Amino acid sequence: MISEKKRIFFLDIPQENPAFFLKGSNNLDWGMKNRLARIFNPKSGKTVMLAIDHGYFQGPTTGLERIDVGILPLAQYADTLMLTRGILRSVVPPSFNGGIVLRASGGPSILKELSNEQIAVDIEDAIRLNVSALAVQVFIGGENETQSVHNMTRLVDLGNRYGIATLAVTAVGRDMVRDAKYMRLACRICAELGATYVKTYYVPEDFDTVTASCPVPIVIAGGKKLPELEALRMAYDAIRQGAAGVDMGRNIFQAESPVGMIQAVRSVVHDGMSPEEAFEMYTGSIDRAASTSIEETLAAV
Ligand code: R5P
Repeated sequence: MISEKKRIFFLDIPQENPAFFLKGSNNLDWGMKNRLARIFNPKSGKTVMLAIDHGYFQGPTTGLERIDVGILPLAQYADTLMLTRGILRSVVPPSFNGGIVLRASGGPSILKELSNEQIAVDIEDAIRLNVSALAVQVFIGGENETQSVHNMTRLVDLGNRYGIATLAVTAVGRDMVRDAKYMRLACRICAELGATYVKTYYVPEDFDTVTASCPVPIVIAGGKKLPELEALRMAYDAIRQGAAGVDMGRNIFQAESPVGMIQAVRSVVHDGMSPEEAFEMYTGSIDRAASTSIEETLAAV
Protein backbone atom coordinates (compact mmCIF):
# COMPACT_ATOMS: atom_id res chain seq x y z
CA MET A 1 0.00 0.00 0.00
CA ILE A 2 2.84 2.37 0.88
CA SER A 3 4.44 1.82 -2.50
CA GLU A 4 1.04 2.25 -4.22
CA LYS A 5 0.56 5.56 -2.37
CA LYS A 6 4.08 6.59 -3.35
CA ARG A 7 3.38 5.70 -6.99
CA ILE A 8 0.17 7.71 -7.19
CA PHE A 9 1.19 10.74 -5.17
CA PHE A 10 4.91 10.76 -6.09
CA LEU A 11 5.75 11.14 -2.41
CA ASP A 12 9.49 11.12 -3.07
CA ILE A 13 9.30 14.03 -5.55
CA PRO A 14 8.92 17.46 -3.92
CA GLN A 15 6.98 19.98 -5.99
CA GLU A 16 9.40 22.27 -7.79
CA ASN A 17 9.24 26.02 -7.41
CA PRO A 18 11.23 27.28 -10.38
CA ALA A 19 12.22 30.93 -10.65
CA PHE A 20 10.73 32.89 -13.56
CA PHE A 21 13.25 33.30 -16.35
CA LEU A 22 13.18 37.09 -16.61
CA LYS A 23 15.32 39.42 -14.55
CA GLY A 24 13.50 41.14 -11.69
CA SER A 25 10.17 39.52 -12.61
CA ASN A 26 9.92 36.69 -10.11
CA ASN A 27 7.42 38.39 -7.84
CA LEU A 28 4.91 39.26 -10.55
CA ASP A 29 1.56 37.51 -10.74
CA TRP A 30 0.87 34.50 -12.96
CA GLY A 31 -1.07 36.41 -15.62
CA MET A 32 1.64 39.04 -16.02
CA LYS A 33 4.33 36.34 -16.25
CA ASN A 34 2.25 34.47 -18.82
CA ARG A 35 2.01 37.65 -20.90
CA LEU A 36 5.76 38.30 -20.55
CA ALA A 37 6.40 34.75 -21.76
CA ARG A 38 4.58 35.71 -24.98
CA ILE A 39 6.92 38.69 -25.45
CA PHE A 40 10.18 36.99 -24.40
CA ASN A 41 11.07 33.50 -25.58
CA PRO A 42 11.33 31.39 -22.41
CA LYS A 43 14.06 29.21 -23.99
CA SER A 44 16.50 32.01 -24.85
CA GLY A 45 15.11 34.55 -22.38
CA LYS A 46 15.26 37.10 -25.20
CA THR A 47 12.90 38.84 -27.60
CA VAL A 48 12.87 40.20 -31.10
CA MET A 49 10.14 42.82 -31.05
CA LEU A 50 9.24 44.35 -34.38
CA ALA A 51 8.43 48.03 -33.79
CA ILE A 52 5.93 49.39 -36.31
CA ASP A 53 4.19 52.02 -34.18
CA HIS A 54 5.98 55.02 -35.72
CA GLY A 55 2.80 56.18 -37.47
CA TYR A 56 1.31 57.34 -34.16
CA PHE A 57 3.31 60.54 -34.47
CA GLN A 58 5.01 60.31 -37.90
CA GLY A 59 2.22 59.12 -40.19
CA PRO A 60 3.12 56.78 -43.07
CA THR A 61 6.89 56.94 -42.67
CA THR A 62 9.33 55.20 -45.05
CA GLY A 63 8.76 51.44 -45.00
CA LEU A 64 5.41 51.68 -43.21
CA GLU A 65 3.35 53.12 -46.07
CA ARG A 66 1.46 49.80 -46.46
CA ILE A 67 1.72 47.67 -43.36
CA ASP A 68 -0.52 45.00 -44.87
CA VAL A 69 1.82 44.53 -47.84
CA GLY A 70 5.25 45.43 -46.42
CA ILE A 71 5.10 44.30 -42.81
CA LEU A 72 2.72 41.36 -42.43
CA PRO A 73 5.16 38.96 -44.16
CA LEU A 74 7.65 39.76 -41.36
CA ALA A 75 5.26 39.07 -38.51
CA GLN A 76 5.94 35.32 -38.48
CA TYR A 77 9.59 36.01 -37.58
CA ALA A 78 8.82 38.45 -34.75
CA ASP A 79 8.32 37.28 -31.18
CA THR A 80 6.23 40.37 -30.62
CA LEU A 81 4.70 43.24 -32.57
CA MET A 82 4.80 46.74 -31.10
CA LEU A 83 2.04 48.78 -32.71
CA THR A 84 -1.03 50.97 -32.31
CA ARG A 85 -4.55 49.67 -31.82
CA GLY A 86 -5.52 51.26 -35.14
CA ILE A 87 -3.09 49.09 -37.09
CA LEU A 88 -3.78 46.05 -34.92
CA ARG A 89 -7.51 46.13 -35.62
CA SER A 90 -7.36 47.19 -39.24
CA VAL A 91 -4.48 45.11 -40.57
CA VAL A 92 -3.16 42.35 -38.27
CA PRO A 93 -5.00 39.00 -38.46
CA PRO A 94 -6.32 37.93 -35.03
CA SER A 95 -4.66 34.56 -35.68
CA PHE A 96 -1.29 36.22 -34.99
CA ASN A 97 0.01 34.25 -32.06
CA GLY A 98 2.97 36.28 -30.80
CA GLY A 99 2.99 38.98 -28.16
CA ILE A 100 1.34 42.32 -28.76
CA VAL A 101 2.82 45.44 -27.20
CA LEU A 102 0.31 48.21 -27.62
CA ARG A 103 1.33 51.84 -28.05
CA ALA A 104 -0.58 53.47 -25.20
CA SER A 105 0.64 57.09 -25.24
CA GLY A 106 0.33 59.77 -27.88
CA GLY A 107 -0.94 63.21 -28.77
CA PRO A 108 1.61 65.41 -30.53
CA SER A 109 2.71 64.85 -34.12
CA ILE A 110 6.21 65.48 -35.46
CA LEU A 111 5.03 69.06 -36.04
CA LYS A 112 4.74 69.74 -32.29
CA GLU A 113 6.55 69.24 -28.97
CA LEU A 114 6.83 65.45 -28.78
CA SER A 115 7.06 65.18 -25.01
CA ASN A 116 3.53 66.54 -24.62
CA GLU A 117 1.93 63.08 -24.66
CA GLN A 118 -1.03 61.72 -22.77
CA ILE A 119 -2.35 58.24 -22.21
CA ALA A 120 -4.06 57.30 -25.47
CA VAL A 121 -5.84 54.03 -24.71
CA ASP A 122 -8.30 52.74 -22.16
CA ILE A 123 -7.22 49.68 -20.18
CA GLU A 124 -10.51 47.98 -21.10
CA ASP A 125 -9.63 48.23 -24.76
CA ALA A 126 -6.18 46.78 -24.06
CA ILE A 127 -7.84 43.83 -22.32
CA ARG A 128 -10.31 43.45 -25.20
CA LEU A 129 -7.36 43.30 -27.60
CA ASN A 130 -5.63 40.71 -25.40
CA VAL A 131 -2.35 42.62 -25.40
CA SER A 132 0.72 41.51 -23.47
CA ALA A 133 2.07 44.96 -22.60
CA LEU A 134 1.37 48.67 -22.90
CA ALA A 135 4.14 50.95 -24.22
CA VAL A 136 4.54 54.53 -23.04
CA GLN A 137 7.16 57.18 -23.83
CA VAL A 138 9.03 58.66 -20.86
CA PHE A 139 10.86 61.92 -21.55
CA ILE A 140 13.44 62.23 -18.77
CA GLY A 141 14.87 65.75 -18.96
CA GLY A 142 12.28 66.70 -21.57
CA GLU A 143 9.90 69.63 -21.48
CA ASN A 144 7.02 67.49 -20.18
CA GLU A 145 9.05 65.12 -18.03
CA THR A 146 6.64 64.92 -15.08
CA GLN A 147 3.58 64.49 -17.31
CA SER A 148 5.23 61.63 -19.20
CA VAL A 149 6.35 59.96 -15.96
CA HIS A 150 2.79 60.23 -14.66
CA ASN A 151 1.48 58.67 -17.88
CA MET A 152 3.76 55.74 -17.13
CA THR A 153 2.83 55.36 -13.47
CA ARG A 154 -0.91 55.50 -14.34
CA LEU A 155 -0.41 52.73 -16.90
CA VAL A 156 1.63 50.70 -14.40
CA ASP A 157 -1.26 50.93 -11.91
CA LEU A 158 -3.85 50.00 -14.53
CA GLY A 159 -1.68 47.23 -15.99
CA ASN A 160 -0.92 45.75 -12.56
CA ARG A 161 -4.63 45.62 -11.85
CA TYR A 162 -5.18 43.29 -14.82
CA GLY A 163 -1.80 41.58 -15.24
CA ILE A 164 -0.71 43.59 -18.28
CA ALA A 165 2.98 44.58 -18.41
CA THR A 166 4.21 48.14 -18.95
CA LEU A 167 7.06 48.90 -21.33
CA ALA A 168 8.65 52.28 -20.55
CA VAL A 169 10.26 53.74 -23.67
CA THR A 170 13.03 56.20 -22.80
CA ALA A 171 12.64 59.00 -25.33
CA VAL A 172 15.67 61.23 -25.76
CA GLY A 173 15.17 64.82 -26.92
CA ARG A 174 16.99 65.89 -30.09
CA ASP A 175 19.54 68.09 -28.31
CA MET A 176 20.18 65.77 -25.37
CA VAL A 177 23.36 63.73 -24.94
CA ARG A 178 22.82 60.02 -25.54
CA ASP A 179 25.40 58.49 -23.22
CA ALA A 180 25.45 55.78 -20.56
CA LYS A 181 25.02 58.34 -17.76
CA TYR A 182 21.73 59.57 -19.26
CA MET A 183 20.50 56.06 -20.08
CA ARG A 184 21.27 54.85 -16.53
CA LEU A 185 19.26 57.76 -15.14
CA ALA A 186 16.30 57.30 -17.47
CA CYS A 187 16.10 53.49 -17.24
CA ARG A 188 16.48 53.42 -13.49
CA ILE A 189 13.74 56.04 -12.96
CA CYS A 190 11.36 54.00 -15.13
CA ALA A 191 12.14 50.77 -13.25
CA GLU A 192 11.93 52.40 -9.81
CA LEU A 193 8.50 53.79 -10.66
CA GLY A 194 7.18 50.40 -11.71
CA ALA A 195 7.90 49.70 -15.39
CA THR A 196 7.88 45.95 -16.06
CA TYR A 197 10.62 46.40 -18.64
CA VAL A 198 12.39 49.27 -20.33
CA LYS A 199 13.31 50.16 -23.88
CA THR A 200 16.32 52.36 -24.41
CA TYR A 201 19.02 53.17 -26.94
CA TYR A 202 22.29 51.28 -27.13
CA VAL A 203 25.35 53.37 -26.35
CA PRO A 204 28.77 52.11 -27.43
CA GLU A 205 30.48 53.02 -24.16
CA ASP A 206 29.51 51.38 -20.85
CA PHE A 207 26.15 50.00 -21.96
CA ASP A 208 26.77 47.17 -19.47
CA THR A 209 26.40 49.73 -16.64
CA VAL A 210 22.95 50.66 -18.02
CA THR A 211 21.72 47.06 -17.91
CA ALA A 212 23.45 46.33 -14.58
CA SER A 213 21.85 49.30 -12.81
CA CYS A 214 18.35 48.60 -14.15
CA PRO A 215 16.63 45.90 -12.06
CA VAL A 216 14.22 44.85 -14.85
CA PRO A 217 14.87 43.68 -18.44
CA ILE A 218 16.08 46.16 -21.03
CA VAL A 219 15.46 45.95 -24.77
CA ILE A 220 17.15 48.26 -27.23
CA ALA A 221 15.55 50.40 -29.89
CA GLY A 222 17.07 50.13 -33.32
CA GLY A 223 17.14 53.88 -33.95
CA LYS A 224 17.78 55.43 -37.34
CA LYS A 225 18.70 53.18 -40.26
CA LEU A 226 22.27 51.89 -40.20
CA PRO A 227 24.10 49.68 -42.69
CA GLU A 228 22.86 46.14 -41.95
CA LEU A 229 26.17 44.82 -40.58
CA GLU A 230 26.35 47.73 -38.13
CA ALA A 231 22.80 47.13 -36.95
CA LEU A 232 23.61 43.44 -36.37
CA ARG A 233 26.76 44.42 -34.46
CA MET A 234 24.72 46.76 -32.30
CA ALA A 235 22.22 44.00 -31.48
CA TYR A 236 25.06 41.57 -30.71
CA ASP A 237 26.91 44.02 -28.46
CA ALA A 238 23.73 44.98 -26.61
CA ILE A 239 22.86 41.33 -25.90
CA ARG A 240 26.42 40.56 -24.81
CA GLN A 241 26.18 43.49 -22.39
CA GLY A 242 22.98 42.35 -20.74
CA ALA A 243 20.09 43.43 -22.98
CA ALA A 244 17.13 41.03 -23.07
CA GLY A 245 16.40 41.70 -26.71
CA VAL A 246 15.70 44.29 -29.35
CA ASP A 247 12.67 46.35 -30.26
CA MET A 248 13.74 47.18 -33.77
CA GLY A 249 11.86 49.05 -36.44
CA ARG A 250 13.63 51.00 -39.18
CA ASN A 251 16.73 48.80 -39.20
CA ILE A 252 14.46 45.92 -40.16
CA PHE A 253 11.69 47.36 -42.31
CA GLN A 254 13.96 49.83 -44.16
CA ALA A 255 16.58 47.15 -44.93
CA GLU A 256 17.03 46.05 -48.53
CA SER A 257 15.52 42.70 -47.50
CA PRO A 258 13.34 43.14 -44.41
CA VAL A 259 12.56 39.40 -44.25
CA GLY A 260 16.27 38.55 -44.48
CA MET A 261 17.13 41.17 -41.88
CA ILE A 262 14.64 40.07 -39.25
CA GLN A 263 15.89 36.50 -39.58
CA ALA A 264 19.48 37.66 -39.21
CA VAL A 265 18.54 39.68 -36.12
CA ARG A 266 16.82 36.60 -34.67
CA SER A 267 19.97 34.53 -35.11
CA VAL A 268 22.01 37.12 -33.25
CA VAL A 269 19.49 37.63 -30.44
CA HIS A 270 18.31 34.06 -29.84
CA ASP A 271 21.21 31.92 -31.04
CA GLY A 272 24.18 34.16 -30.24
CA MET A 273 25.30 34.11 -33.88
CA SER A 274 28.15 36.53 -34.60
CA PRO A 275 27.16 39.67 -36.54
CA GLU A 276 29.48 38.68 -39.38
CA GLU A 277 27.88 35.23 -39.75
CA ALA A 278 24.40 36.75 -39.51
CA PHE A 279 25.32 39.30 -42.17
CA GLU A 280 26.54 36.53 -44.45
CA MET A 281 23.20 34.79 -43.97
CA TYR A 282 21.46 38.09 -44.74
CA THR A 283 23.39 38.76 -47.97
CA GLY A 284 22.81 35.12 -48.97
CA SER A 285 19.07 35.68 -48.64
CA ILE A 286 19.30 38.73 -50.92
CA ASP A 287 21.33 36.78 -53.49
CA ARG A 288 18.81 33.94 -53.40
CA ALA A 289 15.93 36.37 -53.85
CA ALA A 290 17.74 38.00 -56.80
CA SER A 291 18.50 34.67 -58.47
CA THR A 292 14.92 33.52 -57.96
CA SER A 293 13.61 36.55 -59.76
CA ILE A 294 16.07 36.01 -62.61
CA GLU A 295 14.88 32.39 -62.91
CA GLU A 296 11.30 33.56 -62.78
CA THR A 297 12.01 36.14 -65.42
CA LEU A 298 13.67 33.49 -67.63
CA ALA A 299 10.74 31.11 -67.11
CA ALA A 300 8.35 33.81 -68.15
CA VAL A 301 10.20 34.47 -71.45
C1 R5P B 1 9.23 55.53 -31.31
O1 R5P B 1 9.22 56.10 -30.29
C2 R5P B 1 8.66 54.23 -31.47
O2 R5P B 1 8.35 53.71 -30.20
C3 R5P B 1 9.46 53.19 -32.22
O3 R5P B 1 8.81 52.00 -32.03
C4 R5P B 1 10.90 53.08 -31.77
O4 R5P B 1 11.58 54.24 -32.03
C5 R5P B 1 11.62 51.85 -32.34
O5 R5P B 1 11.78 51.91 -33.64
P1 R5P B 1 13.21 52.14 -34.33
O6 R5P B 1 13.95 50.85 -34.21
O7 R5P B 1 12.85 52.48 -35.73
O8 R5P B 1 13.93 53.22 -33.59
